[in-house]
Amino acid sequence: MNIAANPAVEAADQTVYLKDYKKPTFLVDSVHLDIQVFQDHTIVDSILNVKRQTEGDFVLLGRDLELKEIKVNDVVLTSDQYQLDTEQLTLTNVPDIAVITTRVIIHPEKNTMLEGLYQAGNLFVTQNEPEGFRKITFYPDRPDVLSVFTTRVEADKKYPVLLANGNLLETGEVNASRHYAIWEDPTKKPSYLFACVIGDLAVLKDRYVTSEGRDVALEIYAIEKDIPKCKIAMEALKHSMRWDEEHYGRPYDLDNYMIVAVSQFNMGAMENKGLNIFNTSCVLADEEYTTDAAIMRVQSVIAHEYFHNWTGNRITCRDWFQLCLKEGLTVFRDQSFSEDLQSAAVQRIDDVSILKSHQFPEDAGPLSHPPRPDHFVEINNFYTATVYEKGAEINRMMATLLGKEKYRQGTDEYFKRHDGQAVTVEDWISALSAGSGVDLSAFLRWYNQPGTPKLQVTHKYDAVNQSYTLVFKQSLRKNDKYPELKPLPIPVALALFNKDSGEQFTLDADDLVENQVKDGVYLLNSEEATVTFKNITTEPVVSLLRNFSAPVNLDFDYTDDALAFLIEHETNGFNQWQATQTLLERILLEDHVAQPYIDALKNTLPNIVKKDPLLASRLLDVPSEGYLASRIDENYKPDVIQEKRNALLNAFAKALSSFFKETYLSLDPKLQSEFSQAMGERALKNIMLSYMARQGDEAVFELAKQQFDTTSNMSERLGALKVLVWNDAPQAKEALEKFYTRFKDEPLALDQWFMLQAAHPNATQETIQYLTSHPDYDLGTPNRIRAVSGGLNNNPVNAWSYGVAHFIELAQYLDEKNPIVGSRLLQVLSRWYTLAEPKRTEVKEELTKLKETVKSKNVVETLNSMLSV
Ligand code: TRP
Ligand code: ZN
Repeated sequence: MNIAANPAVEAADQTVYLKDYKKPTFLVDSVHLDIQVFQDHTIVDSILNVKRQTEGDFVLLGRDLELKEIKVNDVVLTSDQYQLDTEQLTLTNVPDIAVITTRVIIHPEKNTMLEGLYQAGNLFVTQNEPEGFRKITFYPDRPDVLSVFTTRVEADKKYPVLLANGNLLETGEVNASRHYAIWEDPTKKPSYLFACVIGDLAVLKDRYVTSEGRDVALEIYAIEKDIPKCKIAMEALKHSMRWDEEHYGRPYDLDNYMIVAVSQFNMGAMENKGLNIFNTSCVLADEEYTTDAAIMRVQSVIAHEYFHNWTGNRITCRDWFQLCLKEGLTVFRDQSFSEDLQSAAVQRIDDVSILKSHQFPEDAGPLSHPPRPDHFVEINNFYTATVYEKGAEINRMMATLLGKEKYRQGTDEYFKRHDGQAVTVEDWISALSAGSGVDLSAFLRWYNQPGTPKLQVTHKYDAVNQSYTLVFKQSLRKNDKYPELKPLPIPVALALFNKDSGEQFTLDADDLVENQVKDGVYLLNSEEATVTFKNITTEPVVSLLRNFSAPVNLDFDYTDDALAFLIEHETNGFNQWQATQTLLERILLEDHVAQPYIDALKNTLPNIVKKDPLLASRLLDVPSEGYLASRIDENYKPDVIQEKRNALLNAFAKALSSFFKETYLSLDPKLQSEFSQAMGERALKNIMLSYMARQGDEAVFELAKQQFDTTSNMSERLGALKVLVWNDAPQAKEALEKFYTRFKDEPLALDQWFMLQAAHPNATQETIQYLTSHPDYDLGTPNRIRAVSGGLNNNPVNAWSYGVAHFIELAQYLDEKNPIVGSRLLQVLSRWYTLAEPKRTEVKEELTKLKETVKSKNVVETLNSMLSV
């Protein structure tokens, strides 16, 4: 039977609350799936061996499934023996031990949401996290039901590759045109980790021997011509496997590990047990086709998904409110891994940049929520910067506080206690506390409370007593939904510098009042506190929150000179960069003069250029217009910010022009044998080239053209192309055409071509129109949509003018076709309420109108939150 939409169900309040958690009534000991793929439908047969755990009905979740038959212990049920609606199938009076058999028909060939089983070109793949499995078959589709899966996949022989989780048991022929494969996954897992893949793919193979001596077959599947682009991912995979053994004592547990690359995918990648599925953008890496930034990202996403094998899969989440248990911890792990791959300071800078430009604004606006929310309507809306990035910061704070050894004792205890279980954030904190011997329970507040704390610090130097006092005070913005906000434990890493010598004062524990600072980290664990340092012979310059030791907004009255001092003398690369950003923000938002910054750079850069060119390139970064906007809470005028920022960029270009030119010409990344060093030089060259080109200098355009024509490296090629296109150089048009002709069959490179044009500072509505009606534009491929929308969003002036209609139309279209992506894109407009009038009212009206036409839980929930300010 087919299920008609039921308006009563849609109208009901669909909010789910953490406090309502109940254990599942039935557990599933084993599952047998049989998936037969045909051109215009797929048949899914399922056999569940179930066992009662608590009293009550057995609820099997299912959506868009055509139920053909259901049996309990081999007896066919008639339609009056079960209840079925658009969301679930309910069985009453199921015996304590039972076998439930179902047959359903589904339509992957029509699935545009890219959730459940879907067809992407010549490939059938699954995406089941968080609630996609219920679109494949009726099942208690919740993460606290763990089971052993056996899967038979059957399809036409034109799809030679048939994959599912676990070990391959058997393959064979059904008839002349069809074949099958049977897979068995020995480890118990929740349904969201189930995966299968049916298609025509080539494979890159390797092996890895674990610390326990297990010989693991590694396979990366992609279309034939992309196989050479999988080598970097393969190396990163082996590196990750070793890293997790060395840093967390976690070896891999199966005999094979497979990764499949798909070009149509809603997010970055998915950690399905033993069978990861990746967006091509997160697995293909090759200097000729992808940028250095993309190569770094591939390595960290490979590590991220691999690390989930322990933090997520072996130990999973009890319910989806606990999402940041696996995501926050796994992001912290992949960030730590990446710090070993390149300049650790730059890795931290890049991670904090993302946190500050995405998570801080999210947490300051209508979409603010705790890392562990206590209610939601659509869980897909909670794969947020707060859950991932702030979640990672919470783990980092605890790790900083514990130090290497104790942190490891804590994680060892977690794995020992909970392997094979579905657990909560409380379980994690308890195990970490017990293992390390340090009570971390106060950190639970970080998981349960929303908002970025403000950390106010004041200081006083006492020359007579040679003492230096810091007063800390924390506060949280009021939040009606969470009225009882408590003070948070905030680790503050700090250093004191001698202004005259540039040296650090030693913070010898004996010099301190009551031993408050250990290893340069002070733990603020009350609303207010004071620390006094002794034997400070001259008034120091303090450097606070080194390495960004806590995700807070620091409010400290630095002088511009103190910041300039830190740019020159701070040995922590992160805080050196932070000083540039604080100074630049003041120049841009508070009209301070630019000279101290320029002088500090002139003194500092020449030394860093050779040592750490990537860090040098970051020190030249001026906060983006989008980031600056996130610092403005009312009466925001995009054009005013743009104008100020441009003026500043022009001033730098002038003040440093000869340094830029000399340095640009002196660097040759080709002479560097280390990738990270070459990447740094390329980044530095590109940023210098873009400064040099600001004056419209013909000779600089020629340099850019030369770089474009002679390189085979994508970062150099795109850097040069951007300079030509964004400055409307005479060579721009031809270069764009050349790029297109060369890469028209390379989707990831073509995404860059779309993005670069959409991100042109003077892109017009016609530019976007041209791009979205281009034959290569495709609303079925999220990467392509994100290329244009993301490019457009690079310029708030454009995004808040004709861009508003673009995002609203897109959300409206995707509301039906792909609500997960639609809802995310709409969030771009979430700071509408900060705009100056009349824009503010105009956008509000557009959003209010949109609300009347959309239906998906995803878009509706996002719109409701966005409009709730
Ligand atoms: N668990 C995945 C990760 O972070 C992300 C994820 C969640 C996802 N839902 C998804 C990926 C939907 C693709 C589609 O590693
Ligand atoms: Zn993840």
